Amino acid sequence: MDDLRDKYISLISGAKDEAALEDLRVQAVGKKGEVSLKMRELGKMTPEERQEAGPKLNALKDEINSALAAKKAALADAALDERLKTEWLDVTLPGRPRRNGTIHPVSQVTEEVTAIFADMGFSVAEGPQVESDWHNFDALNIPGHHPARAEMDTFYMYRAEGDERPPHVLRTHTSPVQIRSMELQGAPLRVICPGRVYRADFDQTHTPMFHQVEGLAVDTDISMANLKWCLEEFVKAFFEVDAVELRFRASHFPFTEPSAEVDIRCSWEGGTLKIGEGDDWMEILGSGMVHPKVLQAGNIDPDRWQGFAFGIGIDRLAMLKYGIPDLRAFFDSDLRWLRHYGFASLDVPTLHGGLSR
Ligand code: DAH
Repeated sequence: MDDLRDKYISLISGAKDEAALEDLRVQAVGKKGEVSLKMRELGKMTPEERQEAGPKLNALKDEINSALAAKKAALADAALDERLKTEWLDVTLPGRPRRNGTIHPVSQVTEEVTAIFADMGFSVAEGPQVESDWHNFDALNIPGHHPARAEMDTFYMYRAEGDERPPHVLRTHTSPVQIRSMELQGAPLRVICPGRVYRADFDQTHTPMFHQVEGLAVDTDISMANLKWCLEEFVKAFFEVDAVELRFRASHFPFTEPSAEVDIRCSWEGGTLKIGEGDDWMEILGSGMVHPKVLQAGNIDPDRWQGFAFGIGIDRLAMLKYGIPDLRAFFDSDLRWLRHYGFASLDVPTLHGGLSR
């Protein structure tokens, strides 16, 4: 019995795989295995011999069975280790930080302007970039013969031969959104309308597509004083200087009466622009009291309501605030330019958190 035990324990511990183990199992404890045959011999023994040999044989059988089970588990573990070595995956590789994008200065400034006017109760309104010539011109008191139409270098959309209707235009300013907002919302009203506008013009300070933001406030008791306060607050917040000085210069726009262009005090000393000091003035926007005919075009009764309006160039604001010299580069999609002048994507401008960081 001791010989049998030594033989099988050492064979089992040296088995190479599961198939070899199974052969050993059959050989030792299978129906015709050596241990099983020995158990059959118990019948021929005397009762005394049987009492001694029986328990020993049973113990041997148990011992071989558990050695088989332990070896089977060890073989499975080794197989798994082998597999894990080939299926190894390194999850510790670092990310690639240069791949992040930036926010374009036009988007940044639009967000800044929106944050400032939202704080004064203005909501954002939008209109189409392909605009009816009525919304872009007539409704704004610019009739067909008006020189402003020619001055604006308008892009006209195609109309089929023989179609007598006036062609649509690429909107030349954001002012048509004034009309659309009045039509949609009626009075009282406080909106800003940022967006793209188009004119056939191209040099260092002009691109055929650029951005404006329009402002419109309509109520029963609105005056130039309200306009002036709003614009002063805006300029202070936007340029982040308290000592701003604005100059309202009489001007003319068909859609406002009276009209004013607004200049800001600045200095160009040493080639850099400083807002709020020096002896120069720089024009930054057009504004005025909404013309009664324009209110009427927006279905608002001019005998009951008044309003002020203004229009500002967004790209120009970005150039001034962030010292960007050439407007054309804004729209070149040059990655180096975008990295240099772009803003981090999570720095959303707010009045409490700071507009630009
Ligand atoms: N629409 C004008 C332009 O594009 C800008 C402007 C001037 C808008 C005066 C206004 C305004 O609302 O009152 O040149």
